Amino acid sequence: MADKSFKYVILGGGVAGGYAAREFAKQGVQPGELAVISKEAVAPYERPALSKAYLFPESPARLPGLHVCVGSGGERLLPDWYKEKGIELILSTEIVKADLPGKTLISADGKSFKYQILIIATGSTVIKLSDFGVQGADAKNIFYLREIDDADKLNEAIKAKKNGKAVIVGGGGYIGLELGAALRINNLDVTMVYPEPWCMPRLFTSGIAAFYEGYYANKGIKIIKGTVAVGFSANSEGEVTEVKLKDGNVLGADIAVVGVGGRPLTALFKGQVEEEKGGIKTDGFFKTSVPDVYAVGDVVTFPLKLYNENRRVEHVDHARKSAEQAVKAIKASEEGKSIDAYDYLPYFYSRAFDLSWQFYGDNVGDTVLFGDSNPASPKAKFGSYWIKDGKVVGAFLEGGTPEENKAVANVARVQPPVENVDQLAKEGLSFASKI
Ligand code: FDA
Ligand code: NAD
Repeated sequence: MADKSFKYVILGGGVAGGYAAREFAKQGVQPGELAVISKEAVAPYERPALSKAYLFPESPARLPGLHVCVGSGGERLLPDWYKEKGIELILSTEIVKADLPGKTLISADGKSFKYQILIIATGSTVIKLSDFGVQGADAKNIFYLREIDDADKLNEAIKAKKNGKAVIVGGGGYIGLELGAALRINNLDVTMVYPEPWCMPRLFTSGIAAFYEGYYANKGIKIIKGTVAVGFSANSEGEVTEVKLKDGNVLGADIAVVGVGGRPLTALFKGQVEEEKGGIKTDGFFKTSVPDVYAVGDVVTFPLKLYNENRRVEHVDHARKSAEQAVKAIKASEEGKSIDAYDYLPYFYSRAFDLSWQFYGDNVGDTVLFGDSNPASPKAKFGSYWIKDGKVVGAFLEGGTPEENKAVANVARVQPPVENVDQLAKEGLSFASKI
């Protein structure tokens, strides 16, 4: 006998879980039909805030201010909202076993939950340095950032180590660049370390990266490239004191922050559901290979129709939109109707210091850099286009207005032909604005 039984269960109370719950409420759900199960102790919130406003020294963002769906300008879903809708929010509950054929989930404290339809929204977890056996990586004051508890611990250390030294390991990734800025704003002495020749190499061209590296240097941040952390020293209290690098350098550290990538949380379903490219494989309605099981957000490898390829996307816009698409598909199929398959335009963004960039589309092919990318400019505004098979397929813009960002999104979607690349570089943003 199951402890609890629901028509719909969303497993994971993160961004996708929260947006899926809102979509269920929009589409119509009866009290008692839907449960959201999450190992976090709080209702779904906008995770991107954790590496930005949550760490500000002045007027930091805090719950309940950052519950979903404020990040996309929507209604803020407080715990009472779930109560009013008759949606059961089952928090601080980790599912440790999933029996997909038996349609049952088992929690760490031995409770069982039955469902008719399951939405997997377990997101990602951090890759840890201890996973590669880095010596001393379990010292105190070495931080990872994924959940709100991690951010609370980091905030405490920032206060305790006022004006101290911080080393960011994996500083050239998303977490690294955002946390490097947040720690500097908190007046720590920041050094960022990463193996690649420039930051964000999977997305940024060397030209884009040169701007951010210059800007960070002007803010007093030291950047060490081409090496990795191979060990940590600690004092008698077990607190980190040094980061040892592969190139022989040793950096003093009161705090170390590690952002060396994420891994989708698919382990519960291994062998039960088809996977591809490290994610749970779905169709354009986020249906998995198992009947009545859907997956959304960071964990899914889905058909990216625009590029005719299956991909996984670890960004918040897709988490929100895939969740909405899955719920719409579930509700439509119950009524014998159909909806259009997901047709996603990849959208990533970041904010740090006074900077703010957006990227749309695909970063493949040749590139042109346009605008003012001098890191010393008081109001730098620049961008890049990616051109493949004579068409613009991707666009990046730093410092754009909402209208300009809309224009670059439109260019990436429309994929206009380019006759002359030099001309495109000269036209820059105005090329996008006239499409
Ligand atoms: P998400 O991680 O949000 O939620 C998964 C939930 O499932 C968590 O609550 C987890 O505890 C729970 N869970 C997992 N396993 C479970 C189990 N077995 N039992 C119960 N619960 C379980 N993107 C972007 O585009 N712009 C940005 O600026 C940022 N910024 C950013 C900052 C930080 C600090 C992070 C960590 C990430 C970002 N992102 C981002 C990425 C973005 O936040 C991410 O893509 C979405 O949160 C993914 O949403 P999901 O719901 O898939 O996972
Ligand atoms: P990432 O993949 O962006 O960056 C990882 C960085 O660590 C890279 O520079 C990589 O070369 C480096 N690295 C890898 N192994 C290393 C090692 N052994 N030593 C030193 N450096 C090493 O991942 P992340 O920044 O950790 O982000 C984690 C997740 O959070 C991702 O899913 C990301 O999309 C998400 N996130 C997104 C945003 C955003 O979209 N603005 C912001 C924060 C986090």
